[in-house]
Amino acid sequence: MSAGEPLLEARNLVKEFTTNTGGVLSGKKRAFRAVDDVSFAVGRARTVAVVGESGSGKSTTARMVARLMPADGGSVLLDGEDVTHGTGAALKHFRSQVQVVFQDPFSSLNPRHTVDRIITAPLDYQGMGVPGGKRQLVKGLMERVGLNPDHSGRYPSQFSGGQAQRIGIARALAVKPKLLICDEAVSALDVSVQAQVINLFKSLQAEDGYSIIFIAHDLAVVRQIAHDVVVMNRGAVVESGTRDEIFDNPTQPYTRSLLAAIPTINPEWEARRRVNEQRERAALT
Ligand SMILES: Nc1ncnc2c1ncn2[C@@H]1O[C@H](COP(=O)(O)OP(=O)(O)O)[C@@H](O)[C@H]1O
Ligand SMILES: [Mg+2]
Repeated sequence: MSAGEPLLEARNLVKEFTTNTGGVLSGKKRAFRAVDDVSFAVGRARTVAVVGESGSGKSTTARMVARLMPADGGSVLLDGEDVTHGTGAALKHFRSQVQVVFQDPFSSLNPRHTVDRIITAPLDYQGMGVPGGKRQLVKGLMERVGLNPDHSGRYPSQFSGGQAQRIGIARALAVKPKLLICDEAVSALDVSVQAQVINLFKSLQAEDGYSIIFIAHDLAVVRQIAHDVVVMNRGAVVESGTRDEIFDNPTQPYTRSLLAAIPTINPEWEARRRVNEQRERAALT
C-alpha cells in the first residue's frame, strides 16, 4: 500500500432493480439500472461529494460501497483489497473501517436506547475491548462531537436534530473507522445547524484524517465540504474532478445545468427541516 493509493475505489458498480410496468396488477416487470458502471476513488483524508438530482443513484451507490446492499456488478477496493464479497470476519473488519452516518438522525437512532448504549453498539458488534472503559470512551466521543457528556444517559428524543446527528457521528467514530459515508447527513437539518455539523466533519477530518463520502443534493453544502466531486445523472457518472474544477470549470452540459439551477424547494427535505427546527427551539428552552 502506498501513500498515493486511494483509500477506497469503486470500480464499475452496477445495481439493477425491477419495476412493475403498466401498474402493479399487470404483472409486467422491467429491469432498470439504478447504478450503471459507476467508478470513483476516495483519497486519504479527503472528502468526495457525490451529487446529482433525486433518483440519480447516489444512495444506491453508497449502499453498495458500504456493503449494505450487494452489487450486481463491479467491485469495491479498500486499501487495495477487494472487499466486494467478503463475509464473516472479513465483512466484520470492513465494518470497523467503514461507518455510515444516515440522513435522518431520529430514525437511525433506537429511541428506546440511551446515548451511551447507542454509541457503544458498534463496539459490541465488533467485540472490541476498550482499554480505558466504555464510560470514558463515550464521554470522550461526546465531547469530540460537541455534546455534553453528562447527557449520556438520555434518550434520542431529548435531543435536537443537530444534537441527534452528533450522536450518530459519535457512534460512527467509536470503532475508529477510516471512511465515513454520509448520505444526506445534513440535509434534514436547519441551515445554521447544517453549517455547524459541516464544521464538525471538517475538524474531525483535520484531526484524525478520516476519508469521507459525502452525498448531497445541495450544492451549496457540497461547496463547503468537498475536496473532490462526482456528478451523477440517471445512474451514471457524468463528470468528476476537484471541487474547483467542477464548480469553476464544469465541462459537461449536465453539470453546468445542475450548477445553474435555481435552488428548488424540495418539499420532502423542507418538511423534515421544519420538524428539526421545532426540536432545535424546544432543546434551547
Ligand atoms: N430498493 C429499491 N427497489 C427498487 N428501486 C429502487 C430501490 N432503491 C432505489 N430505487 C430506484 O433507484 C433509483 C435511484 O435511487 P437512489 O439511489 O435512492 O437515488 P438518489 O439517492 O440519488 O436520490 C431511483 O429511480 C429509485 O426509485
Ligand atoms: Mg438518496
